[in-house]
Amino acid sequence: YFIYFLLFYPHTLILVSSYHQCLFPLHAGGQYEYILVEKRGEKNNVGFIQLNRPKALNALCDGLMREVGQALDAFEVDGDVGAIVITGSDRAFAAGADIKEMQNRTFQECYGGNFLAHWNRVSTVKKPVIAAVNGFALGGGCELAMMCDIIYAGEKAQFGQPEILLGTIPGAGGTQRLTRAVGKSLAMEMVLTGDRISAQEAKQSGLVSKICPVDQLVSEAVKCGEKIASNSKLVSAMAKEAVNAAFELTLAEGNRLEKRLFHATFATDDRKEGMTAFVEKRKASFQDK
Ligand SMILES: *[C@@H]1O[C@H](CO)[C@@H](O)[C@H](O)[C@H]1NC(C)=O
Repeated sequence: YFIYFLLFYPHTLILVSSYHQCLFPLHAGGQYEYILVEKRGEKNNVGFIQLNRPKALNALCDGLMREVGQALDAFEVDGDVGAIVITGSDRAFAAGADIKEMQNRTFQECYGGNFLAHWNRVSTVKKPVIAAVNGFALGGGCELAMMCDIIYAGEKAQFGQPEILLGTIPGAGGTQRLTRAVGKSLAMEMVLTGDRISAQEAKQSGLVSKICPVDQLVSEAVKCGEKIASNSKLVSAMAKEAVNAAFELTLAEGNRLEKRLFHATFATDDRKEGMTAFVEKRKASFQDK
């Protein structure tokens, strides 16, 4: 059983194959098949998910995305976890969706089964999620990174939405999130030509917030996660909700929501502790309530 997916090198189209099946996971005992899951950081408070289909450059098959969803569910209810990092390998964050899985799909199957809808789990997590992108983030890989709240890129990272070259278009938020992140002209160019951008271009255009050396990327992302996890989880979720509203609402509605959430922080013990600690010139100790 071959998995094929497309990898775009400059001026060439290379068809990569792998012998690895990506069926619905049959694992028992909570072991994941396509991802590695652990907790990182000095206080073990950063949930860490590494996509692990190296032979397929982390092509995002159905089983892998289901496992990512399960891992996120587990971190979401884990009281110790204050932030989550998603990464791939040095070579590829994820080189796309699994094209072999899609090759013979019909419109009726896609529409009837709401194909790719479950990918959206990544964007509904309450806890802050950081994508640490080394290597290729193409197609579904780029979309997965953009579902996260913060993107850090390794120096050699490349971002692209090459779906047009396969006769289709991005289907997991690529046309929407990319346009909001980098603006219309660059988004149009990427989506219409399939051309990729470098980590440096991604930084310039606002798609990523930081570029790191390849071998320091993951530890920098975990450090960012630790910083976030040291704040109140409750209030962080409110801050995330407010920032995300900027993509959904008008300025007036967004400002109103922000104001309500701001007022709501005054109902929390953590707001009281944060301001009291500031006044008493000591470090705040948040209890997430
Ligand atoms: C898709 O259909 C073609 C032609 O019918 C067939 O050769 C191919 O093996 C099918 N692919 C998959 C993944 O089933």
